[in-house]
Amino acid sequence: MTANPIPANSTPSLISPDVPCDRIIPSFPLKLGIMASGNGSNFEAVAEAIASKRLQAQIQAVIYNNPSAFVAARAERWGVPSVLINHRDYKQREDLDAKIVETFRQFGVEWVIMAGWMRIVTPLLIDAFPNRVINIHPSLLPSFRGAKAVEQALASGVKITGCTVHLVVPEVDSGPVLMQAAVPILPNDTPDTLHDRIQVQEHIILPRAIALAATQQQI
Ligand code: GRF
Repeated sequence: MTANPIPANSTPSLISPDVPCDRIIPSFPLKLGIMASGNGSNFEAVAEAIASKRLQAQIQAVIYNNPSAFVAARAERWGVPSVLINHRDYKQREDLDAKIVETFRQFGVEWVIMAGWMRIVTPLLIDAFPNRVINIHPSLLPSFRGAKAVEQALASGVKITGCTVHLVVPEVDSGPVLMQAAVPILPNDTPDTLHDRIQVQEHIILPRAIALAATQQQI
C-alpha cells in the first residue's frame, strides 16, 4: 500500500467567503438552539467559538433525537440544557417539528442550527424561524445531497469535496449557501479519513457562517 503523497494534516483547504466570525460582530448575542443526532462535534465547535469570544452568541438549548447521542454528554459538560425529543415517539414529521419549535421557544431560541440532525425537517419548523434555520452538510452542495454524502463523493471519483453551511428550505440540502470549505480527496481515503478532514473544516466554517447569516440579516 502506498502512503498518501500529502500528509493528511497538511492538506490545503479553501474557505469561501473567507470571513472570520470575530470580524463580523452582530450587535447582541445570538440566541442559538442546536439540533443534533449523534456525536455533536459541531455543537462543541460552536460552544468553543462562543467561549473564545469569536462568536457573539449563546446556546440556549440542545435538542437531540437519539437517546444514546454523545452530544448530550457534551452539552452537560458545557452546562447547556439538553432535551431528548425522540422522533420515534411522533407519528408525523410535523408533530416532531411542532415539539421542537415549542421547546426552542420555551428556551428563547432565535436561531436554529442543525448540526448533524439526521431527520428531514418540515415547513412547520422552517417557517417558525424565517431565514434563521441553518444546516451543515458534508459535501460541496449542490453535489451529493442527502445521506452518506462522503461515501457518495468517494464513489463518484471527484478529487475535491468539502462541506457547506446553508439556510434551510423545505427541499433537502438545497437552501442558499452561506459558506463552503473545499477538501481534497486523497488516493487512499476511506469514508472515515475523508470525513475526519471534512470535519476539521466544518468546525471552522459553522461558527463563521452563523455570524455571517446574522450579519446578512443586519442583526
Ligand atoms: C457532520 O459531518 C455534518 O456535516 C453532518 O453530520 C455530521 C455531524 O457530526 N450533517 P457531529 O455530530 O457534529 O460530530
